[in-house]
Amino acid sequence: MRVLMCPPEYFSIDYEINPWMDKEKPVNGVLAQKQWEILKQSYSDLGVEVETVNPVEGLPDMVFTANAGLVQDKKAIVSNFKYIERKPESVYFQNWFKSNGFEVLTLDENELFEGQGEALVIGDNLIVGYGFRASLSSHEKIKRFLNREIVSVKLVDQRFYHLDTCFLPLNSTTALYFPRAFDEESRVKLQAIIPNLIEASEEEAVNFICNSVIVNDFIFMPSVSERLRSQIEGFGLKIKVIEVSEFKKSGGGVRCLTLNLD
Ligand code: ARG
Repeated sequence: MRVLMCPPEYFSIDYEINPWMDKEKPVNGVLAQKQWEILKQSYSDLGVEVETVNPVEGLPDMVFTANAGLVQDKKAIVSNFKYIERKPESVYFQNWFKSNGFEVLTLDENELFEGQGEALVIGDNLIVGYGFRASLSSHEKIKRFLNREIVSVKLVDQRFYHLDTCFLPLNSTTALYFPRAFDEESRVKLQAIIPNLIEASEEEAVNFICNSVIVNDFIFMPSVSERLRSQIEGFGLKIKVIEVSEFKKSGGGVRCLTLNLD
């Protein structure tokens, strides 16, 4: 497994583009650095190859590499961010993909899409969200680029503005999700294709329980509840809770800090 991360050197809350961000609640930079290092080290300890992209001053959210783009095989669809504050990140991520041998695909101006944060694979399905950060118009293009069908789901709760904040595939037939983050039609779609859908409670969801990453037989989670601990362990996964309190202030967790490169 190979992932991309970005050091939190310039990470801060300079603007508010989701309900979690509050300029009055600043980041503790030293703690953020420490938490990020622990996540990175935890990947390395399990044999994950961690690549890094250079952080850029003035782009505090670059640390959330899950929004760099979406990678499949050697193709990378570079994100087209909704908010002006994050738009300048695209060129830096694009350059990284290019210089690391990826075929770079770009979207048109009105085709909004924020990468893996909005697109997750379960079994043979690629689930892609829209509603807050992504536009449905980007989905057509993604299908063509990746040459595969996708399942479009609409997000309706602004606290869960990216798919990876409310949906977590656990294996090819099982996922954890927060149902109220999706509109009715999307819930029905998910129920139809995923045999085993586990509901997260509101409390679990706001603790970003879905924003987790599976590495071999481990799962790195920003938090876990006793109820879900036993269910998740029942799937043969060992839970490692990784403290990411500073990144939560920006609306991100473990998953948001990590882009899968393979
Ligand atoms: N502050 C960032 C934003 O609002 C957080 C991004 C979190 N990323 C994610 N994949 N959910 O864009």
